[in-house]
Amino acid sequence: MPDIESLLKEKRVFKPSPEFSRQANWNRKTVAEYRKLGSTNPTRFWAKMAKEHVSWFTPWKKVLDWKPPFAKWFVGAKLNVSYNCLDRHLEGENAWRRNKAAIIWEGEPGDSRVITYAQLHREVCKFANVLKGLGVKKGDRVALYMPMIPELAVAMLACTRIGAPHSIVFGGFSADSLRDRINDAGAVVVITADGGYRRGSSFALKPMVDKAVEGADCVEHVVVVKRTGETTGMMSPRDVWWHDLMANASPKCPAAKLDAEHPLFILYTSGTTGKPKGILHTTGGYLVHVATTAKAIFDLKDEDVFWCSADIGWITGHSYVIYGPLANGATTVMYEGVPTHPGPDRWWSIIERWGVSVFYTAPTAIRTFIRLGDQHPKKHDLSSLRLLGTVGEPINPEAWIWYHRVIGGRKCPIVDTWWQTETGGIMITPLPGAVATKPGSATLAFPGIDAEVLSEEGDPTKPPGGGFLAIRKPWPGMLRGIWGDNQRYAETYWSKWKNIYFAGDGAHREKDGYFWIMGRVDDVMNISGHRIGTMEVESALVSHQLVAEAAVVGRPDEITGTAIVAFVTVRVGTKTDVDLVDTLRNHVTKEIGAIAKPKEIRFTDALPKTRSGKIMRRLLRDIASGKDTVGDTTTLEDYSVLAALRESDDG
Ligand code: PRX
Repeated sequence: MPDIESLLKEKRVFKPSPEFSRQANWNRKTVAEYRKLGSTNPTRFWAKMAKEHVSWFTPWKKVLDWKPPFAKWFVGAKLNVSYNCLDRHLEGENAWRRNKAAIIWEGEPGDSRVITYAQLHREVCKFANVLKGLGVKKGDRVALYMPMIPELAVAMLACTRIGAPHSIVFGGFSADSLRDRINDAGAVVVITADGGYRRGSSFALKPMVDKAVEGADCVEHVVVVKRTGETTGMMSPRDVWWHDLMANASPKCPAAKLDAEHPLFILYTSGTTGKPKGILHTTGGYLVHVATTAKAIFDLKDEDVFWCSADIGWITGHSYVIYGPLANGATTVMYEGVPTHPGPDRWWSIIERWGVSVFYTAPTAIRTFIRLGDQHPKKHDLSSLRLLGTVGEPINPEAWIWYHRVIGGRKCPIVDTWWQTETGGIMITPLPGAVATKPGSATLAFPGIDAEVLSEEGDPTKPPGGGFLAIRKPWPGMLRGIWGDNQRYAETYWSKWKNIYFAGDGAHREKDGYFWIMGRVDDVMNISGHRIGTMEVESALVSHQLVAEAAVVGRPDEITGTAIVAFVTVRVGTKTDVDLVDTLRNHVTKEIGAIAKPKEIRFTDALPKTRSGKIMRRLLRDIASGKDTVGDTTTLEDYSVLAALRESDDG
């Protein structure tokens, strides 16, 4: 991760071009007006956005009901997300969108499907009826564990159509992680596929579901999409094929009129304890937030082809592959596989082939492409691009400039968007027709969002200065809680200061008010833009019989932002060789998933602890990142541990 010194040396400023501003959905004047309204009367601002960007069956009685830390938005209103993403694009003056591409999908092997709004609507209605047929009722949870295929979008929208909150589990998570999430949410149905394609070959998903469901009694049915055609054991009557159920399903299914605060989905994310948190989002506020931000920040027009490269298993995929773009009647691209198959130019060929005009990706991907060389993007005509975006971690200025120059052809604005699973939608971001950008800065808060950098005591930092990133007023897309754990919700996000949301990030603010996000200040690591808790990896490691104790820290990594380093003490008599390193790395993959696999494992006889027995992670972080001098060691219990740790380097 770039440190603040190097970030702040960055003085380049990129003003929006007059051509871009002229055609922007939100130009300077609009933005100035909205900023004013958003700061003087945020609820009025959001009510205005709600009317403009979302269709309601019944209007609200009250915009916001705020009983800290619990917020209700658009109280009394009724709506449906799938209606907003589909039906309203097929009716009245929008009826021409019937035959517009809603989803352009490309599989890794090269197969592709273009699904129009009318077709998507039909599929979603059919699958909503399938879910009803399986006994799924309003309020029941449905778990989705799928590759990036159109059926995933269909399943999500079908859930929203009948008011069954979905819980999507990223396909890279292990069976154990899946089981924990299914059980925590109490899912009655799991939707999966036989497998998917990655890195040129197929991988199986269904066996993981079988393993997960073995210990999940809440599950009544498993619906399986045939994607790869590999042999798949089906357990009757629990398991059913998607295509069999769809063959006889009726394409007529009215959208349920749901309360604005009806649960829309749960998405699990890592925290500072070993147990992931089920972040709960509800219907009205979330949709207003993502529909508005997608329109304003990505400047979505009917002619655009929008591609957000995130997997739908993460919040970015929920909000900006599916709900934000579809609520705007836009064309959204979905790609199944890895960026480098069959060659390092796959992504650029997708942009050229489909004429992608707005592209949203993560800094870690950009850094990977920089390393692969300019020749790959240069082979392709990327002139269809008009706007670029990044998300997930701070972007280093070098990567920003490369993205601007090589991918954007020096003409595309870049929106560096800061937000979180918990915030639902984008919070700090440039508006491409109005805000000058600086490489490495997410610039300013979105109108209606009260972001600040606060001191430990909760006082605003006087710019220029650093502190903790906080949101001082509720916003529509905010999480409504942690599934089944209101206390943890209150403690995690609302206890640092009174009635103020603590994001868990450090940030720096300049005199001009620009935000420079510094990354996590808690025990959560950001690996390739994905959150992994140090405790989660530690619990996975100590669950191995040969491990006595483990401490996990992140160290800066050129490509992934942060790399996981584990310090491990083993049971007496255990041979600490490369085989054990492999064994433990694979063990973590099995327990959590490949994203949590430590890059480095160092064996040590003892871990540095304070006299009260707390592991001094700060010291370990310094050691892991190869710093010569480590920070304050006055509370260290045993100094000899430090010297031994430094020598553990070759472990
Ligand atoms: O540390 C911040 C970082 O990603 C965290 C949120 O992770 P997650 O909930 O997985 O959502 C990622 C995608 C929205 C934040 O606490 N982060 C996200 N975007 C940025 C960022 N850090 C710096 N700049 C960003 N643009």
